[in-house]
Amino acid sequence: MLSLAIHSNKGGVGKTTIGVNMAMLLAQEGKNVCLVDFDFAGPNLFTFFNKINVTYLNEYFWNEKAVDECVYNLKDDYNLKGNLFICLADPSSESVTATLELDTVAGMKMLQDAMKLKNILRKKPYEVDFLIFDNTPGLGVINVNSFLVTDTILFLIKFSNSDINGTVNLISGLIDVLNNETAIIANNIPPEHLVNESEVRNLEKLVVGKIKEQTGVDISFLGWLPTDKELQSIEYMNAVKNLNGEETERVIHAVTLPDHPMMMALRKVIKKLP
Ligand SMILES: Nc1ncnc2c1ncn2[C@@H]1O[C@H](COP(=O)(O)OP(=O)(O)O)[C@@H](O)[C@H]1O
Ligand SMILES: [Mg+2]
Repeated sequence: MLSLAIHSNKGGVGKTTIGVNMAMLLAQEGKNVCLVDFDFAGPNLFTFFNKINVTYLNEYFWNEKAVDECVYNLKDDYNLKGNLFICLADPSSESVTATLELDTVAGMKMLQDAMKLKNILRKKPYEVDFLIFDNTPGLGVINVNSFLVTDTILFLIKFSNSDINGTVNLISGLIDVLNNETAIIANNIPPEHLVNESEVRNLEKLVVGKIKEQTGVDISFLGWLPTDKELQSIEYMNAVKNLNGEETERVIHAVTLPDHPMMMALRKVIKKLP
């Protein structure tokens, strides 16, 4: 099993979007995947799966519900070759507030339960090949727990000075205490900047070099994901429809536009996963 925490310095860089699409692409290839909403401070995975009825993972961590009750298999809903299990976090304000007030003892208990969760998902009937945690940005007890139960931290960055520098700071704060492999993906890049192969390779080297120089960490650069203009337009139109009282569903381009350049780029990234 490969376990990944999708992480970032700031919110809104595309963790949940990449997590959902990556999980779909892997399950389309026949892999068994489990995607866990570990963003208890800002749950978001549920927004892709409005119609799905499953017990929130909060109930496992804080109310001792069985893991089986908190796992939903999307295989039949999306006609997938492999199993795609999802665990959703509770978006209610009470649940979000409760997780923000987590103390050290509760944090330790959560870590033990997260390890148990991983062991359960490793075995039958799940036999998960890829376990993916969709994190809250920045640092915090819950994030540190996600790092302690995963092999690899996958950092998503926007190509801006503030995000690159913030990510470097985040990594330098983490490496002294953690043992994870690290990888990086640049997301939401205007496609016109991705045309010149050698320029892109050179930038990759500069980013990797900067991280090595400032943190000592050998990070692997997994790839570049272009801005998905169609996705932005659909989200805008859905917001307009919603405001006019019409129901909409969030799109997953791995399902609705599998040949989109963003999905082709994500498939290349997946091939490079450790
Ligand atoms: N490559 C991309 N192209 C266009 N829009 C994107 C891309 N990646 C993410 N987004 C958009 O950015 C917003 C934030 O994405 P999200 O996955 O929720 O970020 P995070 O989980 O890091 O907070 C969403 O509206 C999403 O559709
Ligand atoms: Mg998110």
